[in-house]
Amino acid sequence: MGIRYIEEKKIFHLSTKRTSYLIGLSPEGYVGHIYYGKRLSGDGSNRLLRMEEAPFTPSVRVREKASFLDFFPTEYPTGGIGDYRESCLDVRSESGSIGCELLFGGYEIRKGKPSLPGLPASFGSEEEVETLQIICEDEFFKLKVFLSYSVFPDCDVITRSVRIENAGEQHLKLEKVYSACLDMDDREYEMLTLAGSWARERHIQRGPLQYGKQLVSSVKGESSHQEHPFLALLTPGTTQETGEVYGMNFVYSGNFLAQAEKSQFEQVRMTMGIHPEQFCWNLRPGESFQAPEAVLIYSGSGLGLMTRNLHDFYREHLIRSKHQFAKRPVLINNWEATYFDFDAGKLLAIAKEAKKAGIEMLVMDDGWFGKRAFDDNSLGDWTVNEEKLKSSLPELVEKVNKIGMEFGIWFEPEMISPDSNLYREHPDWAIQIAGRRPSQSRAQYVLDLSRREVVDYAYQCVADVLHSAPIAYVKWDMNRQLCDIGSAWLDRESQGELMHRYVLGVYKMQERLVTEFPDLLLENCSGGGARFDPGMLYYSPQIWCSDDVDAVERLKIQEGTALIYPLSTMGAHVGDCPNHVVGRNTPFETRGHVAMAGAFGYELDITKISEEDRSKIPEQVETFHRYQPLMQRGDYYRLASWSLKKPYDCWEVAAKDGSEALVTFVQVLAQPNMHSRAIFLRGLQKDTEYVLEDTGEVFLGEELMNCGYLIPPEQGDFRSRLYHFVRKQREK
Ligand code: DGJ
Repeated sequence: MGIRYIEEKKIFHLSTKRTSYLIGLSPEGYVGHIYYGKRLSGDGSNRLLRMEEAPFTPSVRVREKASFLDFFPTEYPTGGIGDYRESCLDVRSESGSIGCELLFGGYEIRKGKPSLPGLPASFGSEEEVETLQIICEDEFFKLKVFLSYSVFPDCDVITRSVRIENAGEQHLKLEKVYSACLDMDDREYEMLTLAGSWARERHIQRGPLQYGKQLVSSVKGESSHQEHPFLALLTPGTTQETGEVYGMNFVYSGNFLAQAEKSQFEQVRMTMGIHPEQFCWNLRPGESFQAPEAVLIYSGSGLGLMTRNLHDFYREHLIRSKHQFAKRPVLINNWEATYFDFDAGKLLAIAKEAKKAGIEMLVMDDGWFGKRAFDDNSLGDWTVNEEKLKSSLPELVEKVNKIGMEFGIWFEPEMISPDSNLYREHPDWAIQIAGRRPSQSRAQYVLDLSRREVVDYAYQCVADVLHSAPIAYVKWDMNRQLCDIGSAWLDRESQGELMHRYVLGVYKMQERLVTEFPDLLLENCSGGGARFDPGMLYYSPQIWCSDDVDAVERLKIQEGTALIYPLSTMGAHVGDCPNHVVGRNTPFETRGHVAMAGAFGYELDITKISEEDRSKIPEQVETFHRYQPLMQRGDYYRLASWSLKKPYDCWEVAAKDGSEALVTFVQVLAQPNMHSRAIFLRGLQKDTEYVLEDTGEVFLGEELMNCGYLIPPEQGDFRSRLYHFVRKQREK
């Protein structure tokens, strides 16, 4: 496993536990893609690059460059030279033309993986990961392109990134720089993506791949509620356990484009990178540009294996927070409890009741600063509104701590309200196009984080508040998308850099935050789950999944999110009923069971809910903590999906050593005249006996996995149950 260069074949063989990735060179030095898929024992051959095939024109018998490049499977296609499929790199020269031709110029194989300056990126020790760098050159521009491949054998993941260096004399403009490309022969692939909207993020959608280009993207300045920087191609009929899956995920939080293109020759090109719209990067002589990282994964055993490998990969090689595997506090957030209508008295009343129920942290959400009584002012003025709170922040935190709870606080540091002192002093700090009336969204503008002084100011506001009191947790929100893309600071030539520079500014702030406050638990958020992506996971071990906490809607949101991301990353709370977004009533137990699949908490006024519901909280908190270590490290199996029209939803987390498994079953809609239903467990040891904790019944692992466990019929919609199976202790 690892990376080998086979000189006589001119082939690079990258291999993980179950996969092989082969790169070959054409005689003139084009870097071709030979193969990605099930692990090979041999090294393949360059024959698979089909370099000798002539175009199908009766008059032409030899290979011609244009037609050759248009079907040559390549590692990194460039625009303007005859490959008419999607390009990954478009370089505009001083003369105004686009065209760049990359030929192999050398390589380097090293243990470990270098970090990407200014960008989130996966990591691993020298024992865990190996990196190949292929150097390509465009002779005409004296442009160097470094293609990096890092191989993580245990998770079957290969990450890719690209750096472009201008070693020539021209002022070049990068109009498109993608991070990854995968060329394959079509196998009637289906395309799977995650789609949604505010309050219904990341629903799984799937359909046949057609000729032409099919893509998901965002030009909103964030990864977005609507589409997600993830794309998978599946062989037809792929299930959780069968079929082949090629997945790509982008470690980036801004504009992206992820595309599959089926071409005239039944070839498929998968590409992923920064969206080229509103992007133009100046690359002056001596400068270089680093594109973000893309994660590639292949599974020959269905979607389930892809999911488990990605969970392991993100847990071990992307999320840095010390909180990742630590006991996470169960929190209560006052947003849906009070919205903007709160003071210290109300918060303390919530804290006291919450403490009695075993909840461990109080989070003060939006509305504590400036003169904010509604959402139309004060973003940027991060001074505590003591008049509204009827308390200073240190006093409030002290009182909450005295009650026996930790304290957390909400910020939205990237924003500026037109009605704020900050805007009155620095109108040019907002992203706006000079001379045009800018668009407000939620009555706010976005700060120009391409500007160092703005990043410094916004960061310092957060840091000053955190220094003023013992604050254990920050919810970092971002409630509008970017438009009117103009910076008063960047020159005319650099305006096309703003969108990417904005994201780099966000990363800079979060890097400073986690460095200066290493104990802080940071939860990212974006109007619900609009920036739930691997980029943000590098800084925060949990991200608010959605503003919709309805237990039924959350089934689809959390299924889509958990297809890629570990359960412990999904901020998930028990809300009040009727649910504030959909108006649905669901049992308190079910809300608890669904939220316990993620980073657990409450989003309600505990002083106002019924005594009956309140009395259930201590047990929920206890249950969450009991199973949290299993959920943080275990293997996730999707057993049934409400999203696939089953009347129920069911998932399991099994310990990696097969010692226990927790199954969550949610009967969404009751059906008339039903008998018990079998669910088939996974990840157990077949010859081992397991005890079902609640009933004491004993089952053999193979029985639970092959014959199934029978879920008894039950009346009533939205009912849920947890089933905990534990390996039977041998009698001494
Ligand atoms: C959007 C978040 O998703 C909510 O939880 C809440 O924090 C509001 N913003 C506050 O404005």
